[in-house]
Amino acid sequence: MGRNLALNLADHGSRVALHDPWPEARDAFAASPLAQTEDLALNASLQDFVAALTLPRRIILLIKAGATVDAQIAALMPLLEAGDLIADAGNSHHRDSRRRGEQLATKGLRFLGVGLSGGEVGARNGPSLMVGGSPEAHALVENTFRQVAAKADGEPCCALLGGDGAGHFVKMLHNGIEYAAMQLIGETYLVLRGHLGLEPAKIGAVFARWNQGDLDSYLTRITAEILSRDDPAGGGPLVDVILDKAGQKGTGLWAATAALELGVPAPTLLEAVSARALSMLKDERVAAAGRLAAASPLEAPEARDRLVSDLEQALLASMICVYAQGFAVMAGGAREYGWDLDLGRCASVWREGSILKARLLGRIVAAYGADPALPNLLIAPVLNDLLARAQDGWRRAVAAVALHGLPAPAHCSALAYYDSYRCGRLPANLIQAQRDFFGAHGFARIDRPGCFHGNWGGKRSGGP
Ligand code: 6PG
Repeated sequence: MGRNLALNLADHGSRVALHDPWPEARDAFAASPLAQTEDLALNASLQDFVAALTLPRRIILLIKAGATVDAQIAALMPLLEAGDLIADAGNSHHRDSRRRGEQLATKGLRFLGVGLSGGEVGARNGPSLMVGGSPEAHALVENTFRQVAAKADGEPCCALLGGDGAGHFVKMLHNGIEYAAMQLIGETYLVLRGHLGLEPAKIGAVFARWNQGDLDSYLTRITAEILSRDDPAGGGPLVDVILDKAGQKGTGLWAATAALELGVPAPTLLEAVSARALSMLKDERVAAAGRLAAASPLEAPEARDRLVSDLEQALLASMICVYAQGFAVMAGGAREYGWDLDLGRCASVWREGSILKARLLGRIVAAYGADPALPNLLIAPVLNDLLARAQDGWRRAVAAVALHGLPAPAHCSALAYYDSYRCGRLPANLIQAQRDFFGAHGFARIDRPGCFHGNWGGKRSGGP
């Protein structure tokens, strides 16, 4: 990925000094055609690399998040001078980025935490860049970032979103949404494949058709493409021979954890992380399949046809809920960490180059354009309208998965989120009463201010 970004930089007129601490990686570079690229120069030692840079030095780290970043910063610090910049473009935790920003500032060094989306291809052709740090630090790379970033309607998909940590916080939520979007697509595929028995190529054609409408997105498109591929080793559909265990590197878990810590409901983001964990329990699932009672299959042919179109509505509506949850967590993070986060701008930088590239983002940009203080995307007229239209099919699809025993936790949680959010009176009154009953926690009333207790004493049953 680092090499691809370097090539992208070179394409846009930058002379790029490179360093890789691993001798094997340096040998592979030397043996590749890249070594002949005039504007790229690989340095064997960190000292040579730093010496090759013009002042103020601008260094982009594209390395594994965590201790490796700290080790690299520690190695660089004594070699740098006040005013130099380190930009970490890996998937670092936003708290680490805040800490690193403070650490480098003690030596007069500048830091940017840069969320980069788009994978290797994006790094080469134009990634989406979410930048966090000071305006002074950003000014050192702003023009370069604008040149290498993907463009949406001619506008570069990169922006300074807030202070230290903001870029990686937004990238973390980007990935939380990514996990949930992938899970929703996966569940939809499972109903079509496992329940309706459609061949992968046929399902691929269904996704390709959906990609012509409001579900148009990078993830829908690649799903269609993946489902159309055959196994090079065997002739059948490739997806059928891929093991159903999905790992994770942790950014989705971080996003879910942030939602819980901030007290912002994001149930579908949490479900997506749990679903990956459940997928890893392959042996347990296979054993349980023979022991736990199953539901009845769907029989009537007309119900089967309707389910396909209902699933399109369900995927769209659940996807909107996922974005609503992710953006609500971003708003919560902005409040907690004091960032002036422009949520419309965040959606805007994902419109191209990012794994989340999707037609829906245009509506999200418009929603925040119309009301920057929108408490939740669900109530934005431009999305609300789609939800209202999708609602009947969405409910029928979720009812069908429940009735026929199909695992679709993300779809179910998205609908439950929607119904909870639009519910004017939740059962939390009873939960307040229960807490007061067993723990004297007190409760608030609807008709007067203050903290009250129920007179449970006399008639209260004994302890547990
Ligand atoms: C991106 C991706 C990228 C990576 C994820 C995958 O925006 O380019 O999000 O960052 O694919 O980290 O994460 P998991 O391995 O945890 O699924």
